[in-house]
Amino acid sequence: MKKLSLQLVAFFSLFNANAQSGTLTKNILLDAMFDSNIPLAGYVSELSNNSNELKIDSSNSAPYALVAGGSKGIGYAIAEALAKRKYNLILIARHADSLIAAKNKLESAYQVHVEILVHDLALEESAVEIAQWCIERDIPLKLLFNVAGFGGTQDYLSLPLDTLRYMVRLNVESAITLTYALLPLLEKNAPSYILNVASMAGFAPIPVKNIYSATKSAVIFFSYSLRYQLRDRGISVSCLSPGPVFTKPEIVKDTKDKLGWFGMKMAVPPKRVGEIAVRKTLKKRMMIVPGTLATITAFIIRILPRRVIVSIYDKVGKKQ
Ligand SMILES: NC(=O)c1ccc[n+]([C@@H]2O[C@H](COP(=O)([O-])OP(=O)(O)OC[C@H]3O[C@@H](n4cnc5c(N)ncnc54)[C@H](OP(=O)(O)O)[C@@H]3O)[C@@H](O)[C@H]2O)c1
Repeated sequence: MKKLSLQLVAFFSLFNANAQSGTLTKNILLDAMFDSNIPLAGYVSELSNNSNELKIDSSNSAPYALVAGGSKGIGYAIAEALAKRKYNLILIARHADSLIAAKNKLESAYQVHVEILVHDLALEESAVEIAQWCIERDIPLKLLFNVAGFGGTQDYLSLPLDTLRYMVRLNVESAITLTYALLPLLEKNAPSYILNVASMAGFAPIPVKNIYSATKSAVIFFSYSLRYQLRDRGISVSCLSPGPVFTKPEIVKDTKDKLGWFGMKMAVPPKRVGEIAVRKTLKKRMMIVPGTLATITAFIIRILPRRVIVSIYDKVGKKQ
């Protein structure tokens, strides 16, 4: 029984790490670095041509939520759950087309204001530029969601250093710098909320996913500490650590191939993840793991000794 539960834990957790972005790791990096459609710096939005003229509609006093990585996947689902609750939104991503599509859908369905900013969050200057944009306009910002991140299926020992640096910058540095840069505004609009998106892969070391699990573990530790640091300032900090979420066809395929029916049962649809993330963030929950099976799996991973779980991950990882 014990052996079986250990195998299940290892299997699910490894899958979670693998499922992250399928084989997209390299492509995303190359996209970000070379795709001319992706502005590597600066803001571009429907307002970009006259950004100094942007005025927040004073007749609409609803507070704003900023979703970093809010055009697709879990970030979009979070944005939708916020729009349902009548929060105005600032969405950030690299591609203008998906941002515009998200804005149009949300504005027409929920009658909220959606501002869009094109930024590569992995770039050093992005956090300060985004915060400056918000501060100059005195945005009534009450919620910050650090969602953007990526993983991959390759052995990280074989990845180029630039790819690893990009992962660390996006998964860890962008969440930390955006949080710090926006703290003055969040404090001004307190009570306010921060949600950092980690992963179940952050609960234990995963040899074949060394850097990904390390970055997500950093996000978890950062969130726990920050929660204590900010509790007297009226800012609540939460951390979302999902298992598999079907945001891309590759993740569905990986789930079927590696976990079969149980994996399909454990996966939580993006829309539900977004809803749970927003509801529990507003309830000031620290750790949020959507789905019952994922919650049980996460619990077991967290109580197992590290040397046990890491060796299970290693064995299971080598079989694939
Ligand atoms: N899906 C899962 O199974 C799963 C499980 C556990 C944890 N997570 C975590 O949840 C988060 C979201 O995952 P997801 O599956 O929803 O991802 P996704 O579907 O690929 O969406 C990622 C979002 O972030 C944006 N983004 C990506 N790189 C960016 C960059 N460098 N700068 C600015 N925006 C960027 C994307 O837009 P652009 O491409 O236009 O930039 C998109 O809006 C990640 O942190 C991931 O590690 C996911």
